[in-house]
Amino acid sequence: EALIAAVCAAPKAELHVHIEGTLEPELAFALARRNGVALRWPSSEALRAAYAFDSLQSFLDLYYAGCDVLRTEQDFFDLAWAYFQRAAADHVVRAEVFFDPQSHTARGIGFDVFMPGLLRAARRAQDELGMRADYILCVLRHLSEDDGLATLEAASPWREHIIGLGLDSSERGNPPQKFARLYAQARAQGLRLVAHAGEEGPAASVRDALDLLGAERIDHGVHAADDPALVRRLAAEGVALTVCPLSNVKLRVFPDMAAHNLPALLHAGVKVMVNSDDPAYFGGYVNANYRALLAAHPALDSADAYRLLRNSLEASFAPAGPVAAWA
Ligand code: HPA
Ligand code: ZN
Repeated sequence: EALIAAVCAAPKAELHVHIEGTLEPELAFALARRNGVALRWPSSEALRAAYAFDSLQSFLDLYYAGCDVLRTEQDFFDLAWAYFQRAAADHVVRAEVFFDPQSHTARGIGFDVFMPGLLRAARRAQDELGMRADYILCVLRHLSEDDGLATLEAASPWREHIIGLGLDSSERGNPPQKFARLYAQARAQGLRLVAHAGEEGPAASVRDALDLLGAERIDHGVHAADDPALVRRLAAEGVALTVCPLSNVKLRVFPDMAAHNLPALLHAGVKVMVNSDDPAYFGGYVNANYRALLAAHPALDSADAYRLLRNSLEASFAPAGPVAAWA
C-alpha cells in the first residue's frame, strides 16, 4: 500500500495512450449533443455498460464508433485537454500521445481541424500543468499501405509538430512487412518509429517490427516472451516495451492481472514500463494501471517499481532527454 502510494505520486512518462481512447462516455454524450450526432446508446451509463470486450477487434469496433462525435477543432481540444488534466493528476510529466488521423479523415474531418485542437491542448498542458506533450501519428494497419502513405503526405504541413510514426488497429492479418515502405519514408523524414506488435500477434511480429520497420520502441510486445532468444535481444539492445496491463486483461491477452507477464519481462532485463492505452475504455489512467499491476503482483518490490518509473522516462523521445521531463 505504501509502495503503491509512492508510485502514484512519482513523476512518470506515459508513452502509450491513444487520444481517441481517452474519450469518456460523458464527454462522448456532451459532444454528440453539441454536434447533433446520434449515438447508438441511450445514455453514457448504457455506453459504459457496453465496454465488455472479448478481443482487440470487439474493442476497436466501439472505439471507431466513438470517434464519430469528434467533429470540430474544439472537440479535439476538449478531448486532449481532459486527458492532460487527468494525466497531470497521475503525475505524468511527459506524454507521447498517439492519434489516428485515418479515423477522422475517412469521415471528412481533416488535419486542419484536429491538429490545431490537439496542439492547442498540448500547449496549454505545457503552460498550465508543466507537462511536456508530443504527438505520434498512428497509421491504421487494417487499411492499405498506400492509405498510410497518403496520410503521412497529408500530415506534411504539420510535420514539425509530430515526433513519430506508429502503427495500430487489428494486428491479425496485418503484419509489419505490409508497412515497410511507409516506415522507410517516415525514417527519411526524421520521424521516430514505434509500432504495436505482439499484442495479439506472435513474437515474430515483434522481431519483424524491429528488423523490417526499424521500430525503436514496441507498443505492447508482451508476446515477445514466447521467444527466449528475442527476450535476450530486447534486454541486450535496451528496446522498450510500452506495456498496458489493464488493456491486456480487458482484451483477454491475459486471463487476469496475476497472469500478466510484465514482472517476468522486467526481471529478464527488458525495458518495460506501464501505460494506459485507452483509459476511458479499459478502466483507468496510468496510476490505475500501476495500482492494479502492483496489487496483483506482491512480489514486485520498490526497486522493481522504481525501475518501471525510470524506464518510462528513459524510453521517452523527449528532445532534451529524460531529465528535461522534470523541468
Ligand atoms: N491495439 C491496437 N490498436 C489500438 C489499440 C491497441 O491497443 N488502441 C487503440 N487502437
Ligand atoms: Zn495501443
